[in-house]
Amino acid sequence: MSGELLFRARGLTKVYGTGTAQVVALRAVDLDLMAGEFVVILGPSGSGKSTLLNILGGLDVPSAGDVTFRDHVLTGASENALTQYRREHVGFVFQFYNLIPGLTALENVQLVTDLTRNDPHERGAEDPAEALRLVGLGDRLDFFPAQLSGGEQQRVAIARAVAKRPDVLLCDEPTGALDFETGILVLEALRRANRERGTSAVVITHNVGIAAMADRVLRMRSGAVIGTTVNAAPCEPADLSW
Ligand SMILES: Nc1ncnc2c1ncn2[C@@H]1O[C@H](COP(=O)(O)OP(=O)(O)OP(=O)(O)O)[C@@H](O)[C@H]1O
Ligand SMILES: [Mg+2]
Repeated sequence: MSGELLFRARGLTKVYGTGTAQVVALRAVDLDLMAGEFVVILGPSGSGKSTLLNILGGLDVPSAGDVTFRDHVLTGASENALTQYRREHVGFVFQFYNLIPGLTALENVQLVTDLTRNDPHERGAEDPAEALRLVGLGDRLDFFPAQLSGGEQQRVAIARAVAKRPDVLLCDEPTGALDFETGILVLEALRRANRERGTSAVVITHNVGIAAMADRVLRMRSGAVIGTTVNAAPCEPADLSW
């Protein structure tokens, strides 16, 4: 970790709806995330995990409070500025992989690196095949999504997110649709991207076991961060027992 502050959130509050339909999804959350950190967010369903991640990723805006990414103030930024922020700095990984069925693994990743390459703000996309090797899919470059297992498809999605060299990977239940063994391979891929590329990662999960591999664990309940644990010696994904 470089000691550089990546995200700083203060008093983040999100209220959905009005009147009796009102839901307070986030209640004055304060959060500092350092560059290079691998953070896991745990919490029961409805505790505000996705809401927090979406606000950090510029996919949603808070009702109150502030969030900054490095020296960019995200709160109140225009839709164009948020789009540019997402494109340049954030790699998203969701529960379902959203690969394009008619393109091979390599082409799915290339789609993103080609876009990045044509972006005047880009700072050099990664070689798509190299990104796939990073996630252990060097021997699956020419496979179509239908020819890949769920875990392999998710690793293509991670390669796609990594290949544009984001500063942070924001992952919402990346192992949610996978079994234990497969989930571990996905975690290994994320951890490698974090260690070898220095890419920060925020990973939402319901699985307490995953927390052991994080540098830091945030526990959420009812829209608040109710606890933070620092792992001085995070364990390797392969050593996890769920
Ligand atoms: N677009 C929306 N409109 C109204 N309420 C919403 C909306 N999105 C989320 N909520 C509510 O905000 C609360 C927090 O939702 P959020 O999706 O952040 O929870 P979560 O911790 O990610 O849950 P899960 O583990 O089930 O994914 C929930 O009570 C949810 O119903
Ligand atoms: Mg969620």
